[in-house]
Amino acid sequence: MENRICSIEIEILKESELSERVKKVIDEAKKATENSYAPYSKFQVGAAALLDNGLILKGNNQENIAYPSGLCAERVTVFAANANYPNNALQILAIAAQTGGKFTEKSITPCGACRQVLCETEQRQKAPMEIYLYGTEEIIHIKSAADLLPLAFEF
Ligand code: THU
Repeated sequence: MENRICSIEIEILKESELSERVKKVIDEAKKATENSYAPYSKFQVGAAALLDNGLILKGNNQENIAYPSGLCAERVTVFAANANYPNNALQILAIAAQTGGKFTEKSITPCGACRQVLCETEQRQKAPMEIYLYGTEEIIHIKSAADLLPLAFEF
C-alpha cells in the first residue's frame, strides 16, 4: 500500500491586502448578489468573472420551485461567459453571498457540481482561473480551479 497526500495551498487575505484589479471583481460579485433569485433558500449568491478582454460578467443563483431546476451563481456566470465569449479566458472568478441583508462572515465555497464545471472551463481555456471567495472576516484566494477538485473526473 502507498499513501499519498493531496494538498493545496490557499491564501487568506484581508480586504486591505487586495489589488485594485481583484477588489473590482469582488465588488462586482457582491453587487451581483442583489439580483439573485433565491425565494426558497433566502441565500443570495453572486459571482463575477474577469475575462481576458477586460470585461467583467456577473451572475447569481437562480432558484425554482422545482428545486433541482435552479442553478448556482458560479454556473450561471461561467456558462454565460462561455456562451457569449467562448474564446476569452476567465482570469478571475469572485464569489460572495448575503443572507438576512448581511454578507457572510465566512467565505462561500462552490458546491461539487460547480467545481467540476470550473475545472473543465479552466482546462478548456488552457489558462489558470484564479478564484476569490469573499467573506467579511477573510477572503480565500485559490490560484487555480483545479485546486478545488483533486482527482477530478477527466478522460
Ligand atoms: N449556491 C450558489 O449559488 N453557490 C454556491 O457556491 C453554493 C450554493 C446557491 C444554491 C442555492 O440557490 C442557494 O445557494 C442555497 O444553497
